[in-house]
Amino acid sequence: MKTLPKLASAAAALCAAGATLAQGNAPIKVGLMLPYTGTFAALGNMIENGFKLYVQEQGGKLAGREIQYFKVDDESDPSKATDNVNKLIKRDQVDVLVGSVHSGVALAMAKAARDSNMLLIIPNAGAVDITGPMCSPSIIRSSFSNWQPAYAMGIVVGQKGVKRAMTITWNYAAGAETVKGFTEGLEKGGGKVIKDLTLPFPGVEFQALLTEIASQKPEAVYAFFAGAAAVKFVKDYAAAGLNKTIPLYGPGFLTDGTLEAQGAAAQGLQTTLHYADNLDTPRNNSFRKNFALAYKANAAVYAVQGYDAAQILAAGLNAAKGDLTKREVLTSAMRKVTVDSPRGKFTISNAGNPVQDIYLREAKGINNEYKAVAVKGLADPARGCKM
Ligand code: BEZ
Repeated sequence: MKTLPKLASAAAALCAAGATLAQGNAPIKVGLMLPYTGTFAALGNMIENGFKLYVQEQGGKLAGREIQYFKVDDESDPSKATDNVNKLIKRDQVDVLVGSVHSGVALAMAKAARDSNMLLIIPNAGAVDITGPMCSPSIIRSSFSNWQPAYAMGIVVGQKGVKRAMTITWNYAAGAETVKGFTEGLEKGGGKVIKDLTLPFPGVEFQALLTEIASQKPEAVYAFFAGAAAVKFVKDYAAAGLNKTIPLYGPGFLTDGTLEAQGAAAQGLQTTLHYADNLDTPRNNSFRKNFALAYKANAAVYAVQGYDAAQILAAGLNAAKGDLTKREVLTSAMRKVTVDSPRGKFTISNAGNPVQDIYLREAKGINNEYKAVAVKGLADPARGCKM
């Protein structure tokens, strides 16, 4: 019965061809796990819109395959994150996860992605462990580590000669990491942080903490808040009259996508980030024009990060010719790509985090305007990533 092995291998070949064909025709399932409610809702929407804009610019397909979206509102709630991500992995059987904004949520997503060998692109959350000890070939960030813009702001504030600063933020991973980065940068310039103030996420009861700042009289305050809470914080800071005596600084999230709502309270605020609205490059100009046309809104950094998440996925899919089973080819191309981003070109570190310029910006009207490069080609420090 020598024909049996031949028949079996012919059948296997047919199956494989069938699978490739089926995969070739089927849409790629992208699972968007983002906040669509709560203080970070606007950030989640921007990311989704940025991602979809890039896909639309490619004719609605990546590497010749249609993209099908599945969405979960993670509410920026880490306690619901594992259940939420499993809706996408197990129920919807997505091919790739994109999310999230909140570091605590993203840490749970990264664990689930590692456990199920799922491809994960992080379009915002800066939790440093994800591109440190939790790193994986299948996890890539299109945004920043919490340390990056914070460290740059510390350097800038140090260069201004500030010796005594205070910090204020939420007490969760992103808050702690941003304060650490700022402190490190400031200390390089001979300054120090005299007190760190925190409140629980997503709290916005700032009054008692502002009173504490007024009584300590530091030379500068560094604040990390984002979304709706950043709007309230900047307005409360000005209403308390602190903006007249104690300069306020922060990572760019403090004023990104929020300037219209913050109004006069935010004018002149200096922040550091990997993006500035008015970067006068053909890439940024066409991105902003297309985004405004598609969504009748000005793009914020979150839209850039969503757009670049799609670009990184496209780089992988193009190398693998749309075949998701070629995981090695796909993930190594995603890491090797130089992303032609609206923020400027950037590369991805071995640990999966962008290596990028951090800009000093100043709020003018509804734009965070470029002032200078605060730190060029900033890579997140090595954090024990072993693959
Ligand atoms: C974070 O949780 O990592 C984060 C949230 C909003 C803006 C920036 C960082």
